[in-house]
Amino acid sequence: GQFNPVQYLMPLAKLIHDEGSYIFEETHVTRVHHDVPIRVEAGGFVVTADHVVYATHQPIHDKLFVAKLAAYQTYALGLKVPSGTFPQALAWDTLEPYHYWRQVPGAGHDLLIIGGEDHRTGQDDDTEARYRALEDYAAHSLGKVAFEVAYRWSGQVLSPMDGAPFIGRLAAIPNAYVATGYNGNGMTLGTFAGLLISDLILDRENALATLVDPNRFRIAAGGVTFLQENLGFPRYMVGDRLRPDACEAIAAIAPGEGCLVDLEGEMVAASKDEHGKVTALSATCTHMGCLVHWNGAEKSWDCPCHGSRFATNGQVMCGPAREGLPPARATLKVPEQAPGS
Ligand code: FES
Repeated sequence: GQFNPVQYLMPLAKLIHDEGSYIFEETHVTRVHHDVPIRVEAGGFVVTADHVVYATHQPIHDKLFVAKLAAYQTYALGLKVPSGTFPQALAWDTLEPYHYWRQVPGAGHDLLIIGGEDHRTGQDDDTEARYRALEDYAAHSLGKVAFEVAYRWSGQVLSPMDGAPFIGRLAAIPNAYVATGYNGNGMTLGTFAGLLISDLILDRENALATLVDPNRFRIAAGGVTFLQENLGFPRYMVGDRLRPDACEAIAAIAPGEGCLVDLEGEMVAASKDEHGKVTALSATCTHMGCLVHWNGAEKSWDCPCHGSRFATNGQVMCGPAREGLPPARATLKVPEQAPGS
C-alpha cells in the first residue's frame, strides 16, 4: 500500500483540535515533571496531563535509553521522470548502503523518489557526496530514461537494537509512554503506536504489546548489534578529544561552511553564513559531551554519539539533547569575511 502522508495527517491534525486536545507547533519541551498531574514545561508555558507520551523521535525521558537505538542519516532525491515510466510501487535493494524507490504520479510527469546512502549520524565528513552517490545510482539505474532532480532532502532514521520498535508504557515512570525506533517505517509504526498506546491508557488488551515493550533488553536478538552500535560512543567521546578533526583557524572556513576550531583551548563549532558572518558555539554536545561534527549537506552540527543535531545558531533540531549549543566562551578575534571573499 502507498499513501500520501500529508493528506493522511492533515485531517487527523484537524480532528485533534476538537474535544479539548491541542497541537502546539514549534514548542520545545524543556522539562517534564512526573508527579500527578504530569506537568510538561515548554516555551515558558506548562501543560498538565494525566498521561504523557514521549513521541519525540529520539526519546528524551532517559539519557541512556538512546543506547538501544542507532541514529542514521538517510538521503533522498525527488526526480521528475516521464509519466508512466515506472509502476506505482515501493521497492528497495540489498546493497550496502541500500537504496529505496517509490513513484508518485503527477500532472505532466511522475516523481520518482530514490533514497538511501544512509550512514550513522555525524560520522561522515562529506555528506554532499551522499547526494552525488544517489544521483550516480539514479543515472546508472535509469539508463536512457531522462530525469531531472527536482528535490533533495535528508532525514534521520532510528534503528532499534533487535529490529522491533520500542512502543509502550515505561516501567520506571508512572503514566508515561514512549514510541520510537521505527527504523524508517514511521508512517506504519506511528499509526500502530497511536493504536497501541491508546489501548494501554484505556486498559484494553493488545496482543502486540509484549513484542514492542520498550522496557525489554533482548540479549539474544540484539546484544551483538547493541555492542557494535555503541562501540562508537567511547571512540568519539575520547578519540575526538585527543585527535579532533579541526581547522587551523576560522579564516580557513569558506562562506556557507563550518568547522571545529581550537580557540584559546576551547573546541568551538564555527560556521559562516553565505555573507561570511561567523557564529561560534561550544562544540560539546549537551547530551553527554561528545564533539559535534559539521554536516555540509544540511548545514547543521551533528553528534556522532547518539544523533543529536543542532542548527548553526545552536538550537536543537533533533534530540536526545534537550538544550542547544551555547555560544563559545572564547572571544572571536577573527574579522568577519567580506561577501564573496
Ligand atoms: Fe549523545 Fe551527543 S547525542 S553525546
